[in-house]
Amino acid sequence: MIAMDPDELERSLREDVARCENLEELEAIRVKHAGRKGAITALLRGIKEASPEERPRFGAEANRLKQLCETLIEEKRKALGGDMPPDLYVPPVDGTLPATNGLAGHHHVLSRVLRQMTDILHGMGYSPARGPDVELEYYNFEALNFPAEHPSRDLQDTFYVTDDILLRTHTSPVQVRFMENAQPPLKIYSAGRVYRNEAIDQSHSAEFHQIEGLYVDTAVSMGDLRNDIAVFVQELFGPRTQIRFKPHFFPFTEPSVDVDMSCFGCKGAGCAICGLTGWIEVMGAGMVHPNVFRAVGYDPDRYSGFAFGLGVDRLGMIKHGINDIRLFLDNDLRFLHQF
Ligand code: PHE
Repeated sequence: MIAMDPDELERSLREDVARCENLEELEAIRVKHAGRKGAITALLRGIKEASPEERPRFGAEANRLKQLCETLIEEKRKALGGDMPPDLYVPPVDGTLPATNGLAGHHHVLSRVLRQMTDILHGMGYSPARGPDVELEYYNFEALNFPAEHPSRDLQDTFYVTDDILLRTHTSPVQVRFMENAQPPLKIYSAGRVYRNEAIDQSHSAEFHQIEGLYVDTAVSMGDLRNDIAVFVQELFGPRTQIRFKPHFFPFTEPSVDVDMSCFGCKGAGCAICGLTGWIEVMGAGMVHPNVFRAVGYDPDRYSGFAFGLGVDRLGMIKHGINDIRLFLDNDLRFLHQF
């Protein structure tokens, strides 16, 4: 005889039924407790071996357990959809379970950097302007005063769609498109993707992003350019950020400059961010070339203007300590969730 305590038996039966999650398990539980070799069955068999005095109480207890087992199993069977065609059964929802945390989406780090920059320009009075990614060679090069033999017109540097259609290599063509349809004074920025036929590595991508600013009026000076760029980088990198101009060349500006800002990491002392120089190159800029004005029908003796253009990806990398430009387009969530 299996000398199992009825209380113990009842507890284990209730536990098993409560934990049970499907009909197959339930059948196994029934067999375990009330099957031929089950503990309750053994208890029932034991009735006849009990002493005459004990027998009534023992029998009552064994039968109560048998009843209880049948009731519990039947209730559970109904709860598990035992009466339903199996394909219609939907497990009950437990509204008290803690929710699993869904992944909350957020803007891509590049979109955020871009937005931050355009917000600053907005605040400085620049209005947005747009142009196509697939651009005419005329707007990308010709109207911007690139000589016919300029190296960047090469297949090696530029993706051509046809002889005179290409993927824009910078956002400067938007300057021309905008000026063709407007009269000064104008103050615009243009942000978007640009394409270059580059060998791809940690700091070069074949597609990246630029923001371009353009201001045209009567009597715009290099001092105005300097002022706007200083305000822009100070908004972006902190009020103590200094800038300096280095002479440079762009076909569409004259004079042209490369703009450096003092390193925000070491405040000019030299560190890993700035390559020990204390300065970080941030953008190209200059005074709009008279030939660009001529191309859009402005009188270069009457109007003057400045333009600047910066690489969003590069500045975003510097600002956030990102060491590989390819991470921006890899869509690796482990990277993206850090921002
Ligand atoms: N278009 C230039 C480039 O892609 C940047 C630039 C813009 C320079 C405007 C001067 C003025 O490198």
